[in-house]
Amino acid sequence: MNIAVVGSGYVGLVAGACLAELGHNVILVDNDQRKLAALKNGQCPIHEEFLPELLQRHRGKRLEFTSDLGEAVRRSQAIFIAVGTPPKNDGDADLSYVESVAKGIAGAIDSYKVIVEKSTVPVYTNSWIRKVMILNGAPEELFDVASNPEFLREGEAVTDFLYPDRIVVGADCDRCALILERIYQPLVEGSYYERPDAIPGPATGSFAARLIRASTKSAELIKHASNAFLAMKISFINAVASVCEAVDADVKQVCEGIGSDSRIGQRFLYPGIGYGGSCFPKDLLAFRAVARESGCLFGLLDETVRVNEEQRIRFLRKVRKALWTLKGKRLGVLGLAFKNGTDDVRESPAIAIIKALLKEGCSITAYDPAAMERAAEEFAPEGITFASDPYEALEGADACLVLTEWEDFAALDPARMKSLLRYPIVVDGRNLFDPSAMEAAGLNYYSIGRADVVVDHRSTHKTESSLEIGKSDWDIA
Ligand code: UDX
Ligand code: UDX
Repeated sequence: MNIAVVGSGYVGLVAGACLAELGHNVILVDNDQRKLAALKNGQCPIHEEFLPELLQRHRGKRLEFTSDLGEAVRRSQAIFIAVGTPPKNDGDADLSYVESVAKGIAGAIDSYKVIVEKSTVPVYTNSWIRKVMILNGAPEELFDVASNPEFLREGEAVTDFLYPDRIVVGADCDRCALILERIYQPLVEGSYYERPDAIPGPATGSFAARLIRASTKSAELIKHASNAFLAMKISFINAVASVCEAVDADVKQVCEGIGSDSRIGQRFLYPGIGYGGSCFPKDLLAFRAVARESGCLFGLLDETVRVNEEQRIRFLRKVRKALWTLKGKRLGVLGLAFKNGTDDVRESPAIAIIKALLKEGCSITAYDPAAMERAAEEFAPEGITFASDPYEALEGADACLVLTEWEDFAALDPARMKSLLRYPIVVDGRNLFDPSAMEAAGLNYYSIGRADVVVDHRSTHKTESSLEIGKSDWDIA
């Protein structure tokens, strides 16, 4: 099938490359000329496993790049909209990019097309797209609008696309549903997984993706409700971790105990410094706005957001508890990305925490395997220093802070960490290390929802008052 994907960002680029991998002819459209030039030159603009291979495989064959939306529309049967939908000040999603793409499609449409919402959008967006298209001259019989939400985790986006838990097709008529079903046929029938060159995925043996047909509005809600539920799960375990700290229990044991109930499950039960990224924070606010506008009380969403914000403050309190005063302290930071496996720093809790520490007068040397270039844009030139490996970041630092859950960090040698640090202090916002290994190495170790390891009382400052610092003491970005 001939497909256009509008927006070549984290979602559009992965979707476009994967659709080409399924055998379709894909035109990726973007209005960022620099990004297009990089893509045409054979570069992969984002850090995403398997994406460079897919771009290499299909570039110039089944995958083209252009800024000409009109031409892409005329040549395609399905047009996926994957432009950004950032939050406005009131939390509502800003749909102006979606609207301008809809206008562009309306100006070019010349035969029946399916317009597919891939970006995360609030319920009713499909009917707005429809109205905008008609107001801009698109004949009603020449298009349908469908919702096909993405469930792509950055870092695992390619395998999430090719080995999905489910594919949701939100369509209010059979004609457009059939086109989407044809697009995903190789995954639903399982023929893709028999190919010798298939991208390896989490499923072993034969695999067939599950396709769920829903109304367009239900599909729009499935996306918001899924992300809200996952964010709630993270906030829930973070709140449990705080209780664990207060009563001297171990959140890891608690997670094992509750996650073993198959109704709850182990996944997304990792406590830390809170969720970040371009999706959860924005989708929570947008879903809250949807609930509010539809007259529904959904205080659970408010509480999910509150716990998430509180989690960063709690982490900063731990840093102060370990170091007492912050002004003039030099901190070695491991991790800048909002999660492992990506170079994305949008809404990264690590960036917010570093900004708060800079305001307190700390100096920062940071290392991240993928996100240093993007993180540099977040800070003034003199803002922070970047190290070329994790150990270098710790050299002479007053403490080590772990802010992203990269597996490489978990493999660091605690004894070497101690030998490099000026004071033997590690504050781990991602629970990457085993407290007993840190204790054996002689490190004072503070993590989330687990007892502090205090081996050297001279270098810690356990004042009760430091636990009472209110939110106003921290200026979190
Ligand atoms: C997407 C979705 O849009 C968002 O709703 C979802 O929740 C997360 O994924 P993402 O792919 O992360 O966003 O955004 P980004 O990396 O910013 O990519 C958007 C692309 O669209 C950019 O390359 C931008 O240049 C392009 N764009 C934007 C257009 O081509 N035209 C526009 O009018 C606006
Ligand atoms: C999310 C959705 O998971 C995905 O389906 C799609 O809708 C896009 O948005 P993404 O934002 O890439 O994916 O990352 P995800 O793996 O969901 O993690 C989001 C944040 O939660 C990260 O900051 C991560 O560190 C944090 N997290 C995740 C936790 O703190 N604990 C966990 O147990 C899991």
